[in-house]
Amino acid sequence: MDKFASILLAFIVAAVALPTLATAATSNTVENLQTAYNGESNAHARYLAFAQKADQEQYGEIASLFRAAAKAESVHAANHAAVIKKLGGTAELKLETPVVKSTKENLEAAIKGETYERDTMYPEFLKQARAEGKRQAVRTLNLAMMAETEHAKLYADALNNLANLKNTKAKEYYVCTVCGFTSAKVDYSKCPACFSHKDKFEKVS
Ligand SMILES: [Fe+2]
Repeated sequence: MDKFASILLAFIVAAVALPTLATAATSNTVENLQTAYNGESNAHARYLAFAQKADQEQYGEIASLFRAAAKAESVHAANHAAVIKKLGGTAELKLETPVVKSTKENLEAAIKGETYERDTMYPEFLKQARAEGKRQAVRTLNLAMMAETEHAKLYADALNNLANLKNTKAKEYYVCTVCGFTSAKVDYSKCPACFSHKDKFEKVS
């Protein structure tokens, strides 16, 4: 192959490859939101199943915590789906059958899931959304990450206090219906995460 033919071939390869790479880069946030939507939707179903198990094992307070977190995950899923739609996509659900073990193991699994979302998944998705300048995606991803941080703490507290939570009754938790922030009490006038008025909080027990 002579020099001219080599240069021509390089141009052709670049012309084919570059638009493909550009398309992949611009669609990443929609794909990431889709992954997050699925994760949140499955967490919602999993936590409801964990709540049922906690009730069977007489961990009433922990059952309430799982139901509150389940509510929060459904808020995140709905928020992610709305942004996917605004970005021209359609949220698709792939529901998995929850794996339910003992309440102790379920708490451990929940902590692992929340920690992964807080430390790995959401930070990576946020970095990408910022790079793409997709502000609505940044907002929904950031709010979900803040709530998962609270969930991880609440689950860790429950696991550390497991023996004392046996034979407890249902407990009230408060979930922000705008962003999913979850708390054991509402001692503030606005949501600490999204700044919505506290009347946006829903009681879950
Ligand atoms: Fe909120």
